[in-house]
Amino acid sequence: MSLKTVDVAEARTLLQRGDVVAIPTETVYGLGGWIHSESGLRKIFSIKERPFFDPLIVHVASPASARSLAKEWTEVHEALARTCWPGPLTLIAPKTSEINPLITSGLDSVGLRCPRHAVALQLLSGIEGGIAAPSANKFGKTSPTTSAHVYAEFGAGVSILEGGPSEIGIESTVAGVVGNRVEIYRPGFYTASMLRKLLAEQGVMVDVVYAVSPVAPGQLKHHYMPKIPLVIVPEGFSWKQDPLLVSVPFRNPVLWQQPASAAVASRELYQKMREFDAAGFDIIFAERRPEHDAEEWGGIWNRLEKAKTQNLV
Ligand code: TXA
Ligand code: MG
Repeated sequence: MSLKTVDVAEARTLLQRGDVVAIPTETVYGLGGWIHSESGLRKIFSIKERPFFDPLIVHVASPASARSLAKEWTEVHEALARTCWPGPLTLIAPKTSEINPLITSGLDSVGLRCPRHAVALQLLSGIEGGIAAPSANKFGKTSPTTSAHVYAEFGAGVSILEGGPSEIGIESTVAGVVGNRVEIYRPGFYTASMLRKLLAEQGVMVDVVYAVSPVAPGQLKHHYMPKIPLVIVPEGFSWKQDPLLVSVPFRNPVLWQQPASAAVASRELYQKMREFDAAGFDIIFAERRPEHDAEEWGGIWNRLEKAKTQNLV
């Protein structure tokens, strides 16, 4: 058996007929279903083994499509969409009744995102409404950044629209607008400082903060997990000298040191987890260096924190 790839026209037909298709984006590959097909939406949850309480993101072709699915779209939404889309930012907005409650887990808000990927945009511009798509992996497992990862996860049962390796490599920043404040519920490429600056440049003076979503239980503690244990360690760490670990019979540990550039680290993150799994190591020691406290590393360490088994930092 091998990868079942489809072109944009075939992908559209499959979606409209109530099937799912794996779609490329600049962050990670998504498992897409058409927002107007209940059958497609149900398949997303069953194929991913995802609980219904975790809401999906709706991908749209443009800010105009997003506006048409939102009941309220503030000047803050508009300013963020104008500067960050197409791109790795998901905006939460109150939803219209056109949005199936399956997508939002019954919440009255919906996550909307216009991805910066030519193939995805081509598909989206030819389909009415939008495409609901969570990352194309089994629930709680490592997100896919290539079509081969999607195939490894689901086999030939899921058709894939090929789009090359994902450029950003970690999921979008998820942000909501609460009164006169932007709240980031999931860190990603766009940091609070970046959004604050982009908004100020457009004359929109609002604060941007990191927060825990009051409604979406999607931010589970463990997520993105490789198959072998991942332990976060400080720079210069030696497991042979650690009283906790010296008696544990690891045969084949690997020390994971991030590259100097956060952009490169982000692009490679999930690929590396998969490589370590496949290479026969039995534990990953992920080194956290002081420079990782910088905001641009926030999305990367958020994923590593969720993937970890233990933290020795
Ligand atoms: O980059 C991405 O966002 C990728 C690609 C495929 O676009 N998608 C993705 O989807 O990461 P998923 O389902 O793995 O993560 C979506 C998260 C949910 O777990 C939830 O935390 C948040 O987005 N979310 C969705 N709808 C929400 C809502 N109405 N309110 C608050 N958070 C919401
Ligand atoms: Mg996911």
